[in-house]
Amino acid sequence: MKPTNLSPIRVGLLGIGTVGSGTFNVLLRNQEEIRRRAGRGIEITMVADLDVARARAVVGDGVRVVDDARKVIADPDIDIVVELIGGYGIARQLVLEAIEAGKHVVTANKALLAVHGTEIFAAAHRKGVMVAFEAAVAGGIPIIKALREGLTANSIQWIVGIINGTTNFILSEMRDKALDFAVALKQAQQLGYAEADPTFDIEGVDAAHKVTLMSAIAFGIPVQFDKAYVEGISQLAAQDIRYAEQLGYRIKLLGITKRAANGIELRVHPSLVPAKRLLANVEGAMNAVVVQGDAVGATLYYGKGAGSEPTASAVIADLVDIARLHTADPEHRVPHLAFQPDAMSDLAIVPMSEVVTSYYLRLKVADEAGVLARVTGILAEAGISIDAVLQREADDVGGEGATQTDLIILTHDCVEAKMNQALAQMQVLPTVLAPITRIRKEELA
Ligand code: HSE
Repeated sequence: MKPTNLSPIRVGLLGIGTVGSGTFNVLLRNQEEIRRRAGRGIEITMVADLDVARARAVVGDGVRVVDDARKVIADPDIDIVVELIGGYGIARQLVLEAIEAGKHVVTANKALLAVHGTEIFAAAHRKGVMVAFEAAVAGGIPIIKALREGLTANSIQWIVGIINGTTNFILSEMRDKALDFAVALKQAQQLGYAEADPTFDIEGVDAAHKVTLMSAIAFGIPVQFDKAYVEGISQLAAQDIRYAEQLGYRIKLLGITKRAANGIELRVHPSLVPAKRLLANVEGAMNAVVVQGDAVGATLYYGKGAGSEPTASAVIADLVDIARLHTADPEHRVPHLAFQPDAMSDLAIVPMSEVVTSYYLRLKVADEAGVLARVTGILAEAGISIDAVLQREADDVGGEGATQTDLIILTHDCVEAKMNQALAQMQVLPTVLAPITRIRKEELA
């Protein structure tokens, strides 16, 4: 390689837990190859962590370790600040301060950017610094790079992803091993997949943070987490996983963003996916994202969405990008959200009631004459077309002479508001004996 006289770019880490230590170790292990790619060395020269002893144990003696993140931000020798603290609180303050101090920022913090991204990107734009966040979405999968650069020729039509490993692990375990939700969640936590607060995983919030970021980049709209529809898997019953299987589907927690006639859909909820689709076969804690572009068609990105070195892989990719680009004029860099800041679109996020999709319904009904006719009559009156019907003895009252039965209905597409109305009418039928289960369905055709 032609010798370069550029001095190494100097990096300060805020937080050296799972991802921070992975970043340190991978940078060290692959330093020569990374230097050949970046055109200069990339060195972590300073680390801030409240647990100084833990930090010291990871980085050894050659790196300055402090317990105050602001010392890293204030150090004139630091070129890039890597924020690995997480959350919307102090992390937001520190990222804004780092930007104000003229540092480039790399962050894995999807919550922060999904909620405060507009403020943070505007501040970075004003200061002419980069905020890179490949590690914030789907861990080691380079989906941000793909959307922002690789697919830049396309009008993106939709993105559908399994972007939370914890819930995918739980759903896989529940299906494969007939485990209870709580047991599978505990295992996911022990394996280190779950967020510190697992409600972010199981209630779909983490996936919503990630799909919000992908949506902004795909469609050139501001990050709008507050407008995302979010529903998790904590209410999902084992029998629905089984019935879905019998109908040729698997249930996945999907992050979905679509260009629709009335705006942009932005939603996270459990969905039936045909078992034959690749996405339905993404198992365990793996992540996968399908992007449909008008020119390229469907493209699929698959890999580890969490973990120390997979996430470090994304953090370091951002460090290399910054090392290559930081001497370029800010206006010649790739924009944070793929579109030029003065060319953003004001396309509205479609309210969930206006989304068009298909459905799986499970009704526990009295097993007597006319029940099916009444239920299907309500759907027919609402203009909702039925795709398939399955009747099974309900788990809890099954057996010979049972007087109750589970009625499972798959519908064709209809607008959500119509389905809500029909559900309300069905729910009050005296022969409907329990709250109706409704799960949306994505054919991904
Ligand atoms: N808790 C996240 C997941 C980890 O389960 O996918 C990375 O965001």
